[in-house]
Amino acid sequence: MIYQIYPRSFQDSNGDGIGDLQGIMKRLDYLEQLGIDGIWLSPVCKSPQDDNGYDISDYQDIDPMFGSLSDMEQLIEEAKKHGIRIIMDLVLNHTSDEHPWFKEAKSGRDNPYHDYYVWRDGEEGTPPNGMRACFGGSAWQWVPEVGQYYFHQFSVKQPDLNWDNPRVRQEIFEMIRWWMDKGVGGFRLDVIDQIAKVPDKGITNNGPMLHTYIEELSRETFQKGDLVTVGEAWGATPELAKLYSNPDGREFSMVFQFEHINLDQQEGKEKWDLAPLPFLKLKEIFNQWQTSLYGCGWNSLFWDNHDLPRIVSRWGDDGKYRTESAKMLATLLHGMQGTPYIYQGEELGMTNVKYDIQDYRDIETLHMYQERKDAGYREEEIMASIYAKSRDNARTPMQWDGGKYAGFSEREPWIRVNPNYREINSEAQVGVAGSVFEYYRKLVKMRKEYPVLTDGRFRLLLEKDEQIFAYVRENEESRILVVCNFFGKPALCELEEAWDEAELLIGNYEGENDRPGEMRDGFLEVLRPYEARMYLARR
Ligand code: GLC
Ligand code: CA
Repeated sequence: MIYQIYPRSFQDSNGDGIGDLQGIMKRLDYLEQLGIDGIWLSPVCKSPQDDNGYDISDYQDIDPMFGSLSDMEQLIEEAKKHGIRIIMDLVLNHTSDEHPWFKEAKSGRDNPYHDYYVWRDGEEGTPPNGMRACFGGSAWQWVPEVGQYYFHQFSVKQPDLNWDNPRVRQEIFEMIRWWMDKGVGGFRLDVIDQIAKVPDKGITNNGPMLHTYIEELSRETFQKGDLVTVGEAWGATPELAKLYSNPDGREFSMVFQFEHINLDQQEGKEKWDLAPLPFLKLKEIFNQWQTSLYGCGWNSLFWDNHDLPRIVSRWGDDGKYRTESAKMLATLLHGMQGTPYIYQGEELGMTNVKYDIQDYRDIETLHMYQERKDAGYREEEIMASIYAKSRDNARTPMQWDGGKYAGFSEREPWIRVNPNYREINSEAQVGVAGSVFEYYRKLVKMRKEYPVLTDGRFRLLLEKDEQIFAYVRENEESRILVVCNFFGKPALCELEEAWDEAELLIGNYEGENDRPGEMRDGFLEVLRPYEARMYLARR
């Protein structure tokens, strides 16, 4: 069970309005209560913070904003005492343009570091090709000192590293081993499928050398320790995921794939081009991933992260049925095979925000706003996209209590607190029956109690049902049934198989449940809005 922390928004300890490592240490009891085993920590290394730490200028030091190297060592030790390992975020596709390697690299073509990055000749004003950067603009940036362009898939302050240079790879491996010696529990590999780019052919992800480089990386580093590793791969298919997460450990423990989370956008367009969620497609995609990796790969299970909007606002209901729908979405995901990730605040049912444009901080959001303004989009249309998809939805401060700034900080935070913090916060939920937090805690515990949740085969039910997401997990000893009404209106649930002896393990209407959830005649009942249940039957 892994919990993701976005450090600048988790807990401030020194009143500067920015979350930090000492802040995280203060909340380890909370995390232990939730029952998680690992923290994936978004980047805390030294960085000019152009992309909130995903632009690293020193891989072997901590940004002063977050603390010091000794704070980090302390966090690793303290977390261990709570049974929690720290999983670091490795950004290996690019560095900051303020990294000493890049400063050297751009000082002259003969500099030994020049070839650490990806350069192409060209004329000023005429880049080598028309490739675009993820955050807008050309992927090529002219440097007059060397009379060449460098390649950047993200912002202009994030020059791409040249993985074809063996010296780059060696330096990276050494740096990783250095962190391993410090006792970290694993790594999350940022946009790892983009390291083997071939810009001359327009190739960004899944380049021909990708798996050769990853195998070498794994052999030279991870395989020398007891680590959990997860690669971020926007371009992964089930076939590719089997390579990344092959149980022989040749690459990573698992992979983040995004097929299920990209569905509510117009085909072939950007995430900002909104479209309703095609529910049947969602089921089909989960079904495909769950069945095709069975026995030969390993899934990551997630709804949220620091790049995605809040799931309860996105595919649940953050109004009337906020609690019910947050629990339903949790049930649906946590019944599946794979390693579940909980993103900070998800366990409280935290929601999206609607701010004025000047209150947004995310580089991607701000770039898009400007680009679409220039392209003549209407203000309301742009803002609707931002409300739905901005990465800042996930980056507002963690809501700890109903006090000023939600207990996150004593000073005004770097980004506004979601105004609903008085109602939605951890103090109002920890130890409180019926809360989203207690529900997550129970799910986390169940995953450790019932082996079938780890190893059971997945079988989708009611494939064509427009409202219900139902599936079975089964092994030799037992069977689990998960039924979820994915929508805000009642649904008739008619299963074709009998579950008469089944025991209700968890349900999101528990307590106020007039029906004890017993199975009758092949289970023909009405599920209430966003109702979710999980049953166990022994064989
Ligand atoms: C990944 C990160 C994202 C970052 C990008 C560039 O997608 O999750 O936050 O902006 O890589 O490093
Ligand atoms: Ca701070």
